[in-house]
Amino acid sequence: MKTVGLTYDLKTDYEFKKDDPPDANAEFDHPSTIEVIASAIETCGFKVKKIGNASSLLEKIDNLDVDIVFNISEGFFGRNRESQVPILLEMADIPFVGADALTLSLTLDKIMAKKIFIAEGIPTPKFFEIKTPEGLMNTNHFKFPLIVKPRFEGSSKGLSDNSRVENIQDLKKQVEYIINTYKQPALIEEFISGQEFTVAVVGNDPPQVLPIVQIKIDGRLKLNDKFYTFARIRSNRLKYICPARIKKDLAKEISSLALKTYEAVECRDFGRVDFRVDKEGNPYVLEINPLPSLSTEDVFMVVAKEIGISYEEVIGKILNSALKRHNLN
Ligand SMILES: Nc1ncnc2c1ncn2[C@@H]1O[C@H](COP(=O)(O)OP(=O)(O)OP(=O)(O)O)[C@@H](O)[C@H]1O
Ligand SMILES: [Mg+2]
Repeated sequence: MKTVGLTYDLKTDYEFKKDDPPDANAEFDHPSTIEVIASAIETCGFKVKKIGNASSLLEKIDNLDVDIVFNISEGFFGRNRESQVPILLEMADIPFVGADALTLSLTLDKIMAKKIFIAEGIPTPKFFEIKTPEGLMNTNHFKFPLIVKPRFEGSSKGLSDNSRVENIQDLKKQVEYIINTYKQPALIEEFISGQEFTVAVVGNDPPQVLPIVQIKIDGRLKLNDKFYTFARIRSNRLKYICPARIKKDLAKEISSLALKTYEAVECRDFGRVDFRVDKEGNPYVLEINPLPSLSTEDVFMVVAKEIGISYEEVIGKILNSALKRHNLN
């Protein structure tokens, strides 16, 4: 029987520091998610060894005794944080599930990822970056409304109703807030008013694009100015709808863009691509998540239901893609 190591960061392990924003631990997993993934891996016929975060891995790395590691560790700090576990595993020549360090760092940094999208002809909202609050003085070609995001965060960190701005004063305030609170540059994008979708992809050679999931906020699919915020995720105001309520042509376009994006950044085994579609029906890729949430409340489970497979089978699909890639199946 093969042994699968599990690397992860727990919300409960995070110690809030004095200046931390309230969403500082948002990317980390609940202990219950780790239990569910571990038991899914066992159901697929493997032994599970829980390793923990990058520091625990570093301590144990010489005596791991696992065939492969299922990594969902988000890392603690900086734009390379998601790469910390993968790079340690790569150094020790231990196979692991999911994208490698290069892809994880590249995609966590939304500006780097957007540069790749542009080079590959993948539509993404127009953007600019402000590194210091004074930086705004040198820019004057804004077309409002805009959205202000931290350059390298996930899980909607730093996003609130104030993130969508319609004038220079509010833009300035929000840029200052992001730079000072999240200690990183602000990414400013044109705000895409319309609908929102997310697409899960699994496997390799070729990857399988799963049915499109649509985001419903406050009972509406026409989101217009509404968007995903940290507070909305924690409320019941946001629902995942699958299959998406859209015409075939648009669905085809979104699915093929999801695949193109997955391949452009060399995602492996699994990933999720986020989209907004404007009122004229033009899709834009917001970002790709090579380490999307596998919690049973999240997108992957919604998609599993739609294609008639269990949560355990989703985890099995992802794990088997990695085993096949390493000739371990
Ligand atoms: N350019 C945009 N126009 C309209 N809405 C946007 C735009 N960029 C982001 N949003 C909204 O903000 C949400 C979060 O943005 P994004 O996906 O870029 O960041 P994230 O925090 O990494 O996401 P996740 O929660 O998927 O990890 C999107 O799901 C969308 O609702
Ligand atoms: Mg997103």
